[in-house]
Amino acid sequence: MTKKTMTEAQFAETTKDLNVSPQTLEIAHGVLVLGKPQAHYAQELKLTAGAISQAVRRVWSAFQEQSAVPSGYERVTAILPAHQAFIVKKWEQAHKKNGILKMKMKTLANAIQKGGQGKTMTTCHLAFDGARRGLRVAVIDLDPQGNASYTLEAHACGLFASQMFDDSPDLVLSFFADRDNSGITLIHNDDRLANIEKLDLEDAATLLRTHVEALSQYFDVCLIDTPPFLSNVMASALLSADFVMSPVELEPYSLQGMEKMVAVIQNLREANPALQFLGMLPNRYNVKIPRHVENMAILREAYADLVMPFDIRQRDSIAEALGNQIPVWEIKKTAARDATKEICAMTQYVFEKMEVIQ
Ligand SMILES: Nc1ncnc2c1ncn2[C@@H]1O[C@H](COP(=O)(O)OP(=O)(O)OP(=O)(O)O)[C@@H](O)[C@H]1O
Ligand SMILES: [Mg+2]
Repeated sequence: MTKKTMTEAQFAETTKDLNVSPQTLEIAHGVLVLGKPQAHYAQELKLTAGAISQAVRRVWSAFQEQSAVPSGYERVTAILPAHQAFIVKKWEQAHKKNGILKMKMKTLANAIQKGGQGKTMTTCHLAFDGARRGLRVAVIDLDPQGNASYTLEAHACGLFASQMFDDSPDLVLSFFADRDNSGITLIHNDDRLANIEKLDLEDAATLLRTHVEALSQYFDVCLIDTPPFLSNVMASALLSADFVMSPVELEPYSLQGMEKMVAVIQNLREANPALQFLGMLPNRYNVKIPRHVENMAILREAYADLVMPFDIRQRDSIAEALGNQIPVWEIKKTAARDATKEICAMTQYVFEKMEVIQ
């Protein structure tokens, strides 16, 4: 039989929450860490050999329980930046609590019934930022225009967005179970998305929701980019999501689109009460245009807390970055610095509200 031994660190970790007497700790420490014979304690403490071995067994079995690694899991030790360590610790807490090595995936849809507001810009930057924070990010491009699929092309996984409406129970499992899902994983737009409009909304939403739920085994965050019109795909996205946000320009037509969107979100919350509106994101704001300044005041007055407490200005570097398939912080120009600050304030705010970061 091999001798039972533990290091000081293992002993401290094992016994920190263990409800045992100081004498049990003293005996177990002496035998398991210092290597003293059990007979030494029997003599010194005038206890029976059975009592000594019971004290040692109590700590040893707690240690073995803690060290057990279930099949399919691996123990790793790594030095990480604090923000990444936070995520890994959350996985471990969730694992200890539920027996599952992850926290529950959070799903966010970007939606507004008006084109060109910044839905895709926001989706892509959240994906880039999530990935650099160490999150496993799935992006579903439900917009037939495929702009997010263009910008995130390098991360395409081979699965197409219309397949997320297929009646195929093992689709997600067969695709992601044996794959490295770290970083960004793009579920690319495709022409078959048009067929979804022929389905009943309820059927379409049920299919998408089922596949999105299955994704939660493999990802921390799921981002859904939607088309700029009310449709089965947009409604299904909102019925499958935990959160929705709406970028909006400070132009009259955009504000009308926002009004419609708020009504749609309120309606869909009856069918998906879990859906939380993270708010409107004022985008492409130009303080030199009096119309923008006036509309910003109108928006904040009309919707108060529903408007995010910051804005993103009209910045060429943002459009340039998306065209170059990179995040704005990779544009090496002084002009990109302010854009980077604004975008990062947005991603920090959104991930905090989604409770995927501290
Ligand atoms: N703050 C910004 N400054 C400059 N350009 C921006 C900004 N936000 C977005 N853009 C650019 O504006 C255009 C529209 O943005 P985006 O594609 O994100 O909007 P959208 O809401 O997804 O539009 P659609 O509904 O047509 O898909 C894009 O070319 C994008 O690069
Ligand atoms: Mg778009």
